[in-house]
Amino acid sequence: MKLKILIFCAALPVLTGFLRAQTRPAANEPASVTARVITQGSGDGYVGADRCRSCHKPEFAEFNKTAHATLKAHKDAVMGCETCHGAGKPHSDAEEAAHGDDAKTLAAGKLIFAFKGNPKANSERCQQCHASSKDQSQFDHSNHAMHGVSCNDCHATHLTSAADNPKKQGVQLAQAKFMSVPSLPEENRWLTSSLLKKNQPELCYQCHGNVRAAFALPTHHRVPEGAMKCTDCHTPHGTSNKVALRQSGWETCTGCHVEKRGPMVFEHSAVKVEGCTACHVPHGSTNKMLLARREERMLCLQCHVDPSAANVPHNRLSFQTRSDCTRCHSAIHGSNFNQYFLN
Ligand code: HEC
Ligand code: HEC
Ligand code: HEC
Ligand code: HEC
Ligand code: HEC
Ligand code: HEC
Ligand code: HEC
Ligand code: HEC
Ligand code: HEC
Ligand code: HEC
Repeated sequence: MKLKILIFCAALPVLTGFLRAQTRPAANEPASVTARVITQGSGDGYVGADRCRSCHKPEFAEFNKTAHATLKAHKDAVMGCETCHGAGKPHSDAEEAAHGDDAKTLAAGKLIFAFKGNPKANSERCQQCHASSKDQSQFDHSNHAMHGVSCNDCHATHLTSAADNPKKQGVQLAQAKFMSVPSLPEENRWLTSSLLKKNQPELCYQCHGNVRAAFALPTHHRVPEGAMKCTDCHTPHGTSNKVALRQSGWETCTGCHVEKRGPMVFEHSAVKVEGCTACHVPHGSTNKMLLARREERMLCLQCHVDPSAANVPHNRLSFQTRSDCTRCHSAIHGSNFNQYFLN
């Protein structure tokens, strides 16, 4: 049975009630959850959520606490178990007929889409609706999607998960499902954090161990302390910018470090052309001020020739430069007063 797809654009009144405020400071952007709404298929093969509920009480209970469940309230926007899992009659009938027989129970489990196969197919279930949304619209081109990461690696649409339940073995299948109810604090966290399986940065560290290591270094943006999130700079859903940064080039940084944005009368083209990462590392460093090099002058000398060479003005002025260049060139990010960034 084919899904009957009724597409409602976010602009239509049908959905205005579902639009949510952006959680990020860029408040004038449109709400990111602009999903189109489809109706769940009905007729042959579909049994309805109540039938699922008879055997999957925890999933049913939790699903009903999520923003997704409120979609059910609207007559045009039916969101039931089978919207994501597909027609469930063969599975339901087979489970019922299994009468607790393990082999038959397992076989019946294979009769329903359970997000266990191809990551692309998994994401497509969500993208039926989350396609036009600003934040998720580029997901297919993201490095995450291209490396087999799917929506449900990060989001849980109902928190109970057999995978989180090590006891899910043989004879206990049905019972194990019943036991896999999350603790109350964990459930609250989940419901208030975009249905994420874990909060940042732990969610991301699971797969990005090297980034965890960088943030453990003495100088770092305070992500581990919870003052900032990975998603202040990146979008996990992908963008057309390098390394999935929220904005292109230094705009990602100057969103917060406004005073570095300019325009200034005398720009340091290192900042404007190469961007902040010409001199800084974004995550963490053993160097002060997140500088890319321990010795600050070496940083400058990457681009500016050796100060003892004849073509360097300091020779012309007949002094040797020692220690940090910013001792004199203190307005290193650009200046409104001095072309040499002396103040
Ligand atoms: C008669 C009881 C029963 C009914 C009705 C039932 N299920 Fe199940 N379902 C089970 C059991 C038992 C399992 C465990 C099988 C396993 O782990 O392989 C299961 C497993 C599943 C799985 C996981 C399959 C896997 O491979 O791990 C999904 C998804 C699922 N059910 C969804 C549904 C949905 C959606 C409905 C309603 C359309 C539904 N079930 C109706 C008993 C039922
Ligand atoms: C039938 C359409 C539909 C499908 C399918 C769907 N969603 Fe949604 N989803 C929505 C709509 C509409 C909203 C906004 C609900 C609201 O804000 O009231 C939403 C909201 C969300 C939110 C935000 C919840 C919150 O509490 O802020 C997340 C996360 C999400 N969906 C993830 C998913 C994932 C992951 C899948 C696939 C497993 C999925 N969705 C499948 C329509 C859908
Ligand atoms: C690598 C992890 C990851 C993947 C994969 C992922 N998300 Fe998200 N998603 C997040 C995080 C983290 C947030 C919270 C963003 C924030 O707090 O700024 C989020 C937020 C959301 C929201 C809430 C509204 C918003 O845009 O901020 C929706 C809806 C959503 N994701 C849907 C999806 C869908 C649909 C997919 C698959 C197409 C998906 N996500 C894939 C990590 C992920
Ligand atoms: C928005 C999409 C969506 C809806 C609606 C939905 N599920 Fe699921 N379901 C999933 C995803 C995604 C998984 C895979 C879990 C994972 O990857 O962590 C899943 C997994 C399951 C499983 C396998 C065991 C587990 O917890 O991993 C069962 C059983 C299940 N769902 C039952 C239901 C029932 C019953 C309903 C209706 C109350 C329902 N689902 C509604 C997306 C959905
Ligand atoms: C399930 C594993 C997994 C999770 C969870 C995960 N990632 Fe990734 N991420 C990957 C893989 C795989 C790649 C691609 C290979 C690589 O660059 O390491 C990747 C790549 C990236 C990239 C580089 C993108 C590019 O275009 O070069 C960024 C940035 C990123 N992830 C950020 C995040 C953030 C932020 C989170 C948490 C919200 C997160 N990831 C969670 C697996 C994951
Ligand atoms: C202050 C902004 C900022 C924050 C916060 C941030 N990143 Fe990044 N991230 C960047 C920039 C900029 C780059 C590109 C670095 C470059 O070009 O040398 C990057 C690169 C990456 C890469 C690809 C290169 C690599 O180091 O593996 C991954 C993966 C990544 N970030 C993941 C994360 C994760 C996970 C978090 C949260 C724990 C996070 N980032 C927090 C700005 C940030
Ligand atoms: C979400 C806001 C935000 C963004 C985006 C951001 N920063 Fe920061 N940055 C801060 C805050 C707050 C501090 C100072 C407090 C701290 O240690 O976290 C800081 C501190 C710094 C410092 C000084 C570190 C020190 O030891 O004093 C440097 C350098 C820096 N950021 C560079 C960058 C670069 C480069 C980017 C872009 C890749 C960036 N920031 C993006 C908020 C941000
Ligand atoms: C040409 C190299 C260079 C570039 C490019 C650069 N910085 Fe810096 N930045 C420095 C140096 C050197 C220091 C340390 C200054 C000191 O020791 O007084 C510094 C210090 C900082 C500090 C901490 C002290 C302060 O002035 O607030 C922040 C924040 C900062 N930079 C942000 C940025 C941002 C954001 C960008 C991109 C718009 C950027 N930097 C580009 C070299 C650079
Ligand atoms: C990524 C390369 C790069 C790095 C690193 C860099 N600069 Fe520059 N800097 C430039 C470029 C390019 C110009 C423009 C040169 C021109 O217009 O002739 C410039 C211009 C200048 C000027 C003005 C020169 C003039 O003739 O107007 C000063 C002073 C300066 N840089 C000092 C520094 C100091 C001090 C550092 C280290 C904190 C530094 N630069 C790091 C590339 C760099
Ligand atoms: C003791 C103060 C002092 C220190 C330290 C210093 N400078 Fe300068 N620098 C100056 C002054 C003053 C000028 C302006 C020269 C002029 O008017 O011709 C200047 C000019 C420059 C210029 C522009 C030259 C031109 O004519 O285009 C560059 C590039 C430069 N410095 C790089 C550096 C670098 C790189 C370092 C560190 C290795 C450094 N300076 C350390 C004082 C200093």
